Amino acid sequence: MAQLWGGRFTKPTDEKVYAFNASIGFDKRMLRQDVCGSIAHASMLAAQGIISEEDGKKIEEGLKGIYSDVCSGVLEITDKYEDVHSFCEAVLTERVGDAGKRLHTGRSRNDQVALDMRMYVRGEVCQADALLQKLLETILMIMKANVSTYMPGFTHLQKAQPVTLAHHMGAYFEMFKRDRKRLADIYKRMNECPLGAGALAGTTYPLDREYTAKKLGFDKATDNSMDSVSDRDYLIEFLDALSIIMMHMSRSCEEIITWNTNEYRFVEIDDAYSTGSSIMPQKKNPDIAELIRGKTGRVYGSLMGLLTTMKGLPLAYNKDMQEDKEGAFDAMDTACSCIDLYEGMLRSMKFNEDIMEKSAAGGFTNATDAADYLVGKGMPFRDAHTVIGRMVLECIDKGITIDEMSLEDLKKLSDIIDEDFYEAVSIRTCVENRSTKGAPGPDAMAAEIDSCEKFINENAVLIDPLDDFLN
Ligand code: ARG
Repeated sequence: MAQLWGGRFTKPTDEKVYAFNASIGFDKRMLRQDVCGSIAHASMLAAQGIISEEDGKKIEEGLKGIYSDVCSGVLEITDKYEDVHSFCEAVLTERVGDAGKRLHTGRSRNDQVALDMRMYVRGEVCQADALLQKLLETILMIMKANVSTYMPGFTHLQKAQPVTLAHHMGAYFEMFKRDRKRLADIYKRMNECPLGAGALAGTTYPLDREYTAKKLGFDKATDNSMDSVSDRDYLIEFLDALSIIMMHMSRSCEEIITWNTNEYRFVEIDDAYSTGSSIMPQKKNPDIAELIRGKTGRVYGSLMGLLTTMKGLPLAYNKDMQEDKEGAFDAMDTACSCIDLYEGMLRSMKFNEDIMEKSAAGGFTNATDAADYLVGKGMPFRDAHTVIGRMVLECIDKGITIDEMSLEDLKKLSDIIDEDFYEAVSIRTCVENRSTKGAPGPDAMAAEIDSCEKFINENAVLIDPLDDFLN
């Protein structure tokens, strides 16, 4: 057991208690953030004359050595230490002596862990953003290639009106675009540095909080020290954003699973993204899509877990807050790997354009357009609705589509119907005439694709300021 706080105790911690209390098993993944935060803190302490320049240098070199030794496998983070903070300080002190013991001057583990977690999450926000940008590029590629791939649009999972695959995918572009905007908002709001808040009430040392904030890539130091050590809003916001991202992917996966069925055959998931059955040789299952849909639940769970953990906490730090990590780390790992896999599955998926178009021509998706045809010839819409309703009934009876009816039969339903009816209700016309902004018609779609392209080009991926901190 290597603890930072043995002084006022007369007997050692019970072993089970020690293990229960320790967080090293999961917070060791914040090593890089802990090292960067400590280097910034030590450099500030030296600049303010609180420790000597020489000690400052020793601490920096020592911490960089610890980081590279852990990365290369020479040094192992073991559960001999309570948490990653204790590990760094203990090894540093072993390596550089008294300078190591001066590192924690004017700092508490409360502001230290608040800082580490915030920087870790900031890095994950950037990673999720980069993955989403790649996903948007893939969706845009599919859109561009499918502006005249006709397919049925659904409401109530019933064929409704014809759309295009570009239009359908465009809906997902919007969702993931909003997700990126949400991440950018979160980044902006969270990018304040809690270091220097101490245990809860600041310190008596002349710390320069703006110096460390700037050095670590924050916009500013936080304003209230009690809030600084007990705020986890940014993490809740991020888990919320991840939950929404998962929800979006899950909806799309649900469609892909349906589209991949023997009944639909709209898509074929690439072999590389499918799995087989141990008993049924014919099977090619959409397991990846199902898993993404399934894993949505655990990401929601992490959000609910943290909201619940935080709801009863009085100010300021409480050990409950250590529970912010495992669920959040799991949610971040899960969501990021899901975005990555979902993007690959989409990119490699084959769309059966002929089957989609046939399906659009089936199910009376042009019934609204047939009614609009009659309206164009002077019939009030409500009457036209009734006439086409009868037409559909007759077609169902005969097992044909509207455009398979003879002109003679059509005229029996309404004598204002002429030869031009067939062109008016063709799937192509139905889509091409839908030219309002945001609709699937070719001009509207071209404008939408332009705006998607613009979004991608004008919204550079968020960059983690710590990326080159240790170089
Ligand atoms: N492992 C702790 C956490 O994750 C670090 C902070 C400990 N602070 C304390 N006062 N015990 O929250």
